[in-house]
Amino acid sequence: MAIIGIVAIAKNFAIGKDGKLPWHYSADLKFFKETTLNNAVVMGINTWKSIGKPLPNRLNILLSRSETIGNQPSVLLLRSTEEVLALAKYLNCDLFIIGGATTYENFADAIEKWIVTEVSDNAENADTFMPRDFLSGFQTQEIKQLEDNLSIKIYGKI
Ligand SMILES: NC(=O)c1ccc[n+]([C@@H]2O[C@H](COP(=O)([O-])OP(=O)(O)OC[C@H]3O[C@@H](n4cnc5c(N)ncnc54)[C@H](OP(=O)(O)O)[C@@H]3O)[C@@H](O)[C@H]2O)c1
Repeated sequence: MAIIGIVAIAKNFAIGKDGKLPWHYSADLKFFKETTLNNAVVMGINTWKSIGKPLPNRLNILLSRSETIGNQPSVLLLRSTEEVLALAKYLNCDLFIIGGATTYENFADAIEKWIVTEVSDNAENADTFMPRDFLSGFQTQEIKQLEDNLSIKIYGKI
């Protein structure tokens, strides 16, 4: 079991715009699906609302201090980082932290590995960004090119 942050980020560190992704890259969505399938994904309530439905074939763990949702299969609503980390001890799969910015920040100390899709352009008029130093304490382990303007970089702890 590993705790892995997975994020797609523009050159200007943008990750979101108007509650959604600032772009649509099907190659990256396919990569995200293949990578996270049959594992657990953790997301903040804003990202949950933006996706609009449970990600299939994954345990969907949602975070909110106050919101409620109707019970549904494979969806779990938890109230704090600590609750997620306590549950994770009993999981026999990887735990992917899938965003957004607030959720990445709340799990920054627990994340052991980052999988980052780098978009080679700036995302104009974005409103949600990663901190410039979110990879400090990590080093590149692997790079692969997905498409002309998309590369995947895997970072492990130094
Ligand atoms: N590029 C990417 O890879 C990527 C990935 C995911 C999302 N995004 C984008 O990021 C944007 C959303 O980011 P965001 O920061 O607004 O939202 P978010 O992290 O999805 O949701 C934030 C909310 O989640 C709850 N939450 C988060 N951490 C918590 C914790 N540890 N304990 C309890 N509750 C917690 C809180 O809800 P309450 O206020 O209800 O307590 C918080 O206000 C969207 O534009 C989305 O498309 C981009």
